[in-house]
Amino acid sequence: MRSWLCCAAWLAACSTQAMAQVGNVPLSAGDADKRAAATERAMTNDERVTLLNGILAMPYGDTKVPEGVPFGAGYIPGIARLNIPALTETDASLGVSYIGGMRGDGATALPSGLAMGSTWSPQLMREGGALIAGEAHAKGFNVLLAGGINLVRDPRGGRAFEYLGEDPLHSGLLGGAAVAGIQSRNVISTIKHFVLNPTEIGRQFHNGIINEGALRMSDLLAFEIAIEEGQPGSIMCAYNKVNGAQACGNDPLLNGVLKKDWGYKGWVMSDWGSVRATDFALKGLDQQSGSQLDAAVHFGKPLLDAANQDKRYRDKVSDMSRRILRSIYAVGIDQNPPRKAPIDFTAGAAVAQEIAEKGMVLLKNQNNVLPLAASAKKILVIGGYADAGVLSGAGSSQVQGEGGPVVSLPTMAEGPFAPIMAQNYHRSSPLQAIRARAPQAEVTFRDGRYPAEAAIAAKNADLVIVFATQWMSEGLDVPDLSLPTGQDEVVAAVAKANPNTVVVLQTGGPVAMPWQGDVAAILEAWYPGARGGEGIAAVLFGDVNPSGRLPVTFPASVAQLPRPGLPGAETIEPNFQGYGKPGQTLDIDYNIEGADVGYRWFARKGAKPLYPFGYGLSYTSFERSGLAVTGGKTPSASFTLRNTGARDGADIGQVYLVETPLGKTRRLVGFSRIDLKPGEARRVEVAIDPRVLADWTSKGWKIAGGTYRFALGASADDLIEEAQVQLTERTWNYAK
Ligand code: BGC
Repeated sequence: MRSWLCCAAWLAACSTQAMAQVGNVPLSAGDADKRAAATERAMTNDERVTLLNGILAMPYGDTKVPEGVPFGAGYIPGIARLNIPALTETDASLGVSYIGGMRGDGATALPSGLAMGSTWSPQLMREGGALIAGEAHAKGFNVLLAGGINLVRDPRGGRAFEYLGEDPLHSGLLGGAAVAGIQSRNVISTIKHFVLNPTEIGRQFHNGIINEGALRMSDLLAFEIAIEEGQPGSIMCAYNKVNGAQACGNDPLLNGVLKKDWGYKGWVMSDWGSVRATDFALKGLDQQSGSQLDAAVHFGKPLLDAANQDKRYRDKVSDMSRRILRSIYAVGIDQNPPRKAPIDFTAGAAVAQEIAEKGMVLLKNQNNVLPLAASAKKILVIGGYADAGVLSGAGSSQVQGEGGPVVSLPTMAEGPFAPIMAQNYHRSSPLQAIRARAPQAEVTFRDGRYPAEAAIAAKNADLVIVFATQWMSEGLDVPDLSLPTGQDEVVAAVAKANPNTVVVLQTGGPVAMPWQGDVAAILEAWYPGARGGEGIAAVLFGDVNPSGRLPVTFPASVAQLPRPGLPGAETIEPNFQGYGKPGQTLDIDYNIEGADVGYRWFARKGAKPLYPFGYGLSYTSFERSGLAVTGGKTPSASFTLRNTGARDGADIGQVYLVETPLGKTRRLVGFSRIDLKPGEARRVEVAIDPRVLADWTSKGWKIAGGTYRFALGASADDLIEEAQVQLTERTWNYAK
């Protein structure tokens, strides 16, 4: 275990992480290997194959979930004779998922992935992961389908809200930290969806086309770093195809990159309903998940028959089961089995609120309209169901607290997945939280149904807070960057009626904001989780100084994106499962941007986004200076951050590579989140991962010899100080 990023202030936290990752697991990795090998040797082929096939563990079709198994995403029986525990799986990127209330219990809903990504804090990710794992353990689960780290290549991707951002270093470090936190509680975590799954349209069959170098330097790099940081017990492969082969039957990616190049020792589980054939086993898939969702159980009897007849399959089945056993032992799920217990919602709420507050991004604050003056007498709150709660994204990741959602709007008429796809709101009302903070003010609410009505009410208020929402869901991309159901018109009308208009966005991802120039302030609160309402009020009133920075670029319009038209939008009817008509295909050409995802694409095109990656305002001000970079085999950057304002605040120092001997570029190479008191300055050092400086060539990673220039950024678009360093040519690859 090593971290690419330990600033002086974090050394203590980083070493705690190394310890915590071991948790109360009594085994070293070497011991886990030995134990897995010994157990596997003692198994029959029947037993091996038992471990390789899972069911969807909820009432679905004829499925009988065995007595005592908690309803969740998956179940794989154990083998009592060998003390191999059953695997009980739940979705858990944002908390233990609610599955439409089927289990009859709730859990702590953390904010969305992009909210977490906006904290730029591996430490908070670790805390969040440990919290989720503790709750999962107390509900009977020992495997978490967490760690969604697909890069946000398209802000319209329906699952953008589940992912952490658009940069591989940032997503890798944060995603890896979440996994380390989960596994510190003796619960296995996945990282998913391997790989290139940034869009939901036709997700079962769309084919991402990309050249190897671009993939290695972008989406794969995020996974590579996250695996190194978090040592996940399992990797979940994606639904889509990559370069013509299904991701779950993709020999070059699974056997080649993941297992051979990176030496990954855990197991590859399929996404639910993504297995097409038994020979996916030979291509690197180790376990079929939720097999009722596939056309057939390919890994049950067919795999057993193949193993009994064909040595290639026999050897593979041994390796597949050994990998699962290794993760069971390495993470210690056999040592500390799940135990049903009540969960501590108060402790969970505190973590959820801290992440929400640290992840909110202040995008605009004209004339310091925020934080709100306690003197406002008439505050009007409009829209977004702010009287009731805060929005949650939908799909398998959806979490709800006890009692379920406070508002639930159906989005699918019927079917077993309809409750999972509902547009739900958490029980945390921003209106009530605002009232609690402004007891002397008259705070009224309008639902924002009509722009004209909202505007009339706005005229009579001292200040208007409009809650604008963009609901996103697994399975469905959004068609454009507008706010749905006429909300852009409501905001525009209100802004015209009252100059003191503050917009609070709860969006899955970036939106275009045609009214941006007309409002006084904009706070991006994302989907803020179980205590989102309280978190929003704390930031609006200045009890918390906003410190989130965008982990994704907000484009000015879709015309700036690599693919202005959403691929497949005209030919494919969106549906949650993403199956097409027989023979239907959809190629998506990711070579347009290649490794230049998000801000790198904007830099390449010289395009000005609405708000850049890395951007975010504060109620205090910062000075960033003194960038110095050292080269050699382990390059690093150091810089000084100073709080030049009057309030406590946190800044996120960001270092970008801006030029290599091959030409201009823009790559985040290091970052660090630092708390500073007024007047305080801190010198910060970040290690630079050489892979972020290198390009992938036919010989592997290559650093071209010559001058490398770096800049310190307030964002990817606001670069201040430059430093340069000479690097000697270097090529390296993975031991074959
Ligand atoms: C999703 C996965 C999820 C799985 C199990 C799939 O539809 O793509 O992210 O873990 O379902 O619920």
